[in-house]
Amino acid sequence: MNSIILGCDYNPEQWTPDVWREDVALMREAGVDLVAVNIFGWSHLEPADGRFSFDDLDEVIELLHANGIKVNLGTGTSSPPPWLTTLHPAILPVAADGTTRFPGGRQAWCPSSPVFRDRAYELVRRVAERYGNHPALALWHVSNELGCHNALCYCEASAEAFRSWLRRRYGKIETLNEAWGTSFWSQRYGDWAEIQPPRAALSIRNPSQIVDFHRFSSDELLDYYRGETEILRARSSAPVTTNFMVTAHIRNLDYWSWAPEMDVIANDHYLDHRLGDPVAELSFAADLTRGLAAGKPWILMEQSTGAVNWQPYNLTKAPGEMLRNTLTHVARGADSICFFQWRASAQGAEKFHSALLPHAGTDTVAWREVLRLSQTLDAIGEVAGTTVDADVAIVFSWESWWAAEGEARPSQAVTYLDQVHGAHRALRALGVTCDVVSPDADLSQYRAVVVPCLYMVGDVAAERITEYVAAGGHLLVTFFSGIVDERDRIRLGGYPGAFRDVLGVRVEEFAPLRPDHRVNLSGGGIGSLWTERLRTTSAATIASYLDGPLPGTPAITRNEFGDGVAWYLATALDDDGMQRFLRDVVPNREFDLGSDDVEVVRRRGDGRSYLFVVNHGVNPVEYPAAGHNLITNEPVGGTLRVEGGGVAVIREEATA
Ligand code: GAL
Repeated sequence: MNSIILGCDYNPEQWTPDVWREDVALMREAGVDLVAVNIFGWSHLEPADGRFSFDDLDEVIELLHANGIKVNLGTGTSSPPPWLTTLHPAILPVAADGTTRFPGGRQAWCPSSPVFRDRAYELVRRVAERYGNHPALALWHVSNELGCHNALCYCEASAEAFRSWLRRRYGKIETLNEAWGTSFWSQRYGDWAEIQPPRAALSIRNPSQIVDFHRFSSDELLDYYRGETEILRARSSAPVTTNFMVTAHIRNLDYWSWAPEMDVIANDHYLDHRLGDPVAELSFAADLTRGLAAGKPWILMEQSTGAVNWQPYNLTKAPGEMLRNTLTHVARGADSICFFQWRASAQGAEKFHSALLPHAGTDTVAWREVLRLSQTLDAIGEVAGTTVDADVAIVFSWESWWAAEGEARPSQAVTYLDQVHGAHRALRALGVTCDVVSPDADLSQYRAVVVPCLYMVGDVAAERITEYVAAGGHLLVTFFSGIVDERDRIRLGGYPGAFRDVLGVRVEEFAPLRPDHRVNLSGGGIGSLWTERLRTTSAATIASYLDGPLPGTPAITRNEFGDGVAWYLATALDDDGMQRFLRDVVPNREFDLGSDDVEVVRRRGDGRSYLFVVNHGVNPVEYPAAGHNLITNEPVGGTLRVEGGGVAVIREEATA
């Protein structure tokens, strides 16, 4: 492979055949290689119960094929047609308060509904039989963003499936009682039939039950995915995937368990302007997606050219911004760049969503930006297939995210993702590219490992992290980590239970801060959100609180453990403080390459290396580099200057 693929979602159902022909001609002009069709095709393919009609899809696929465009074929099951939910209303999802979610939007189906599965799988069978060996078929696209809206369903079918899942997990009702701590508030179960999903209740619900319901719900949709893939694989040899949502506002699926079942990892990502630093979040999401892909190249399945339609303020992108965002994904391992969607819809809920081809047509800044992007992707095609250099890892867990943000917790102001983002943002600003890995990952290859706010951790993962340090690793753990086991049961004897020994500290009591409260640290740092009554056992104190509820108490500690070093951070540092601190944590490394606004990432493979510099800021930056700039097609002889808003991809002279 020596090209970066450019692709898009295409919804020809919304247009007439003369528009399809114009579309395909323009796709060629824009250099589109891969087109996702039939994502929301069900009501067109099966307009009435058992009546199938493939004529339109046949024509669209043939048209794409005749023009040399590959097809990323949706199975079409993401939204059931109205006749189906009319005939079988039990398919509809039910919210925690028992109210039904009606059709009229999308994804109105319960993941456990046997009727939905039967009907969806029948459609998949027909689509696979018809197109499974078509020469244009490059990839199967199962459903769409599984669990985007319907991940948690509380209907009776879901309740029954939850009970079966619990039986498989615990075997005996007594084991479940113990795992859920049901002696509390008179919740002991005598029989599986008494168990319900964590439906809306009068007071705080059982947190262990809620975490298990999350696990069940993620597994249930994965099981649904498996059902579709079995049908596809029996009829086609094309690779199969579905589009993940590794992004800040979606958290209901544990993608660590999903990833091994994908033939290639694909992610959807939209800049979220509700966040403090949307571009830093984009970098994090790309690194996490690469983690799911086990370091291999991955597909950006959706992003936008400009405004989305679902945020409170849907900002457009400035010229060059789409290119910068795209190259950030490529720098961090994406080899295919796809968009939602090809042609902006004239009707429907997404009519204000941007597209490659805007409402105003081709005489637009947006279209010219698309052509520029396409040329740039062509120019850097040789990067495809290489992998990303990273020497530091951040440990990330969906399961711990669910648990840490339970209904009753020490502070509602502490949110998991903020803490993870803070660590990633600081490393990125130092020019350190991180892998984002699961708590069970092999850490031995990393110079340093950061474990931010890992509230829930199992014994095996905790042991592995401890062994990493004993063997010479450098570890940073931040507050509210190692607190509970997989049952959400406190690890007794002092926090941070699972990491007490490796860190050489013992915490007696949490002392969270009001959201607007700041504490000063000896040595100059500023903390917020959290402090704790901490004593060192074997660790040395690096900084203490000068004020706040616990003056004189250690805030940052350092423990030599085996051949390695383990640091503990008991408060949330501001960005500057975190950057300064991380310089001490990550050993034997230069930090001259980073900045808040600039991505500096290297991809490597087959004896070649490529330096990506993406300048999201307004000021020019300079870096040492020698080689050839693939974007400008010019040599670089020692110093690379990248203007504000500019990008550079350098094929380096000698592999560093
Ligand atoms: C995704 C979805 C697309 C489209 C897009 C809009 O959630 O997969 O179908 O809705 O968002 O941003």
